[in-house]
Amino acid sequence: MSYEKLVKEAAVVVGAPASSELAGAVTKVLADGFVFYFKAHSFHWNVVGKDFPQLHDFFGGIYLAVFANIDRLAEEIRALDAMAPMSLGTLISEASISENKSMLDSMSMVSALADDNQKILSGLLACQKMAEAANQVGLANFMQDLYDSHKKFAWQFSAILKG
Ligand SMILES: [Fe+2]
Repeated sequence: MSYEKLVKEAAVVVGAPASSELAGAVTKVLADGFVFYFKAHSFHWNVVGKDFPQLHDFFGGIYLAVFANIDRLAEEIRALDAMAPMSLGTLISEASISENKSMLDSMSMVSALADDNQKILSGLLACQKMAEAANQVGLANFMQDLYDSHKKFAWQFSAILKG
């Protein structure tokens, strides 16, 4: 196919209205990321036991990595012509993972994050496919990068839980 024909086809895609369904999916990814971020941060604060130094640092690395992508997720929603969540309540209700409300032992903290991470991976893959189908190539790539980073978390959680 010629370059000119592809440019003509691309112009239709570029000029198409933003998909509210895709914005809704990114909102769910953002909500999951925010709840996961906060959970990892609260575990960083509250973990106790002989593994404290390692897990305090491990949870610290996770919350920093996850939080670093929160802003971009919200801005992707705005770029799709939708509003980013305005309240913590909205983030919690949109998330597929739930808040942690009580003290856990250190391995239960790792296990809770490992379970949440699986749900996050599924959401990221779904959102990546939706973005790709909507020809939102930058967003699809971003979802893929997030997926890769959460795959790394999955490996780390399972390595700790095998100990
Ligand atoms: Fe800290």
